[in-house]
Amino acid sequence: MSHMSEVRADPRHASAYLVRAAVTAPSPYNTQPWTFVAEDADRGVEVHADGSRRLLLADPSGREMVISCGAALLNIRLAVRHLGFTPVVEYFPRPADPAYLARVTWGAYQRPTPDEERLFGALRRRRTVRGPFLSEPLPPALADVLREHAHRAGATLDFVADRQGRRQLAELVRSAEETRRSRPECAAEQARWTWWPGEPRYDGIPVTVAAAHPDATSFAGRDYIGHTPMFALPPRRRPSRTGPVAILGTDRDDPAAWLRAGEALQQVLLEAADHGVMAAFHTQPLEVPSLRVRIRQTLGGGAHPQMILRLGYPPCGRPLPRRPVTDVLRAAGAAVT
Ligand SMILES: Cc1cc2nc3c(=O)[nH]c(=O)nc-3n(C[C@H](O)[C@H](O)[C@H](O)COP(=O)(O)O)c2cc1C
Repeated sequence: MSHMSEVRADPRHASAYLVRAAVTAPSPYNTQPWTFVAEDADRGVEVHADGSRRLLLADPSGREMVISCGAALLNIRLAVRHLGFTPVVEYFPRPADPAYLARVTWGAYQRPTPDEERLFGALRRRRTVRGPFLSEPLPPALADVLREHAHRAGATLDFVADRQGRRQLAELVRSAEETRRSRPECAAEQARWTWWPGEPRYDGIPVTVAAAHPDATSFAGRDYIGHTPMFALPPRRRPSRTGPVAILGTDRDDPAAWLRAGEALQQVLLEAADHGVMAAFHTQPLEVPSLRVRIRQTLGGGAHPQMILRLGYPPCGRPLPRRPVTDVLRAAGAAVT
């Protein structure tokens, strides 16, 4: 049997390649809230939200789940480009099924551009940072380049440059994080998605993911390990290593906008990663409706805030695990949960 016929004999072959790229996307608590369907004869791949992995408390509307799937969708588009084809994307192909977010099929052959190849190359280098960055400043032109990426993807990226705005945003993050730390139901939701090293898990976050205390920068981080009661002394603060802070926003606030926000986010993250720059996220106040409204009114320039991020050069760190492709990719005709 020739190599070609082996490829043809496995209808999921190209889809598996695309899905391996898709699953490198970020998701809250590394929930990986997605399922993919390989269509017969590799005609296309479907992207579905997996509601069983939604954070019931932190993400009641599924906004963060859809953002994560949008990031995965952008990765699929880049992988199709890497293979030399133009992705054809249908958004919400079956309106009666809102979890079916997108379908990607193969369009005309067109050589990938050097920029597309750069972003594809950054897929496996991108990772989330927690805590202080190194002290080097970012390349001066990077903020404009990232803003332009977000804009082209149908979103906005606003850097919160003035001191008062930064302080205000930091206070809202702290207030949301303190509420979260004090509520047992939030701790229970977090416990479902965090684990101690040694547990064989392909999703969630090891509690040791943050080497620093969650309060070591001006923006409070999620307290994965329960640092706060463990440390008698306040942490050593390194506000100078907080890095530039930005808000990713959209003009609307519905599933189509969330999906677009995810694609824009991933494009921004990959461009940054190609420069060796990674992001830390502080989305806690966006999970509290009253605080999200305040951010929109005072800092977001009227846009609906979808993500809050800091950028900088990371200290050491390792990528988090992903579920194997066989767990997330189904053949057409198999039930989708
Ligand atoms: C919608 C969304 C919200 C997130 N919120 C936070 C956050 O508040 N704090 C944090 O440390 N990471 C946050 N993350 C990052 C995830 O924890 C991270 O993507 C996941 O653990 C996988 O790790 P990786 O990004 O290094 O691949 C968020 C990611 C997404 C997509």
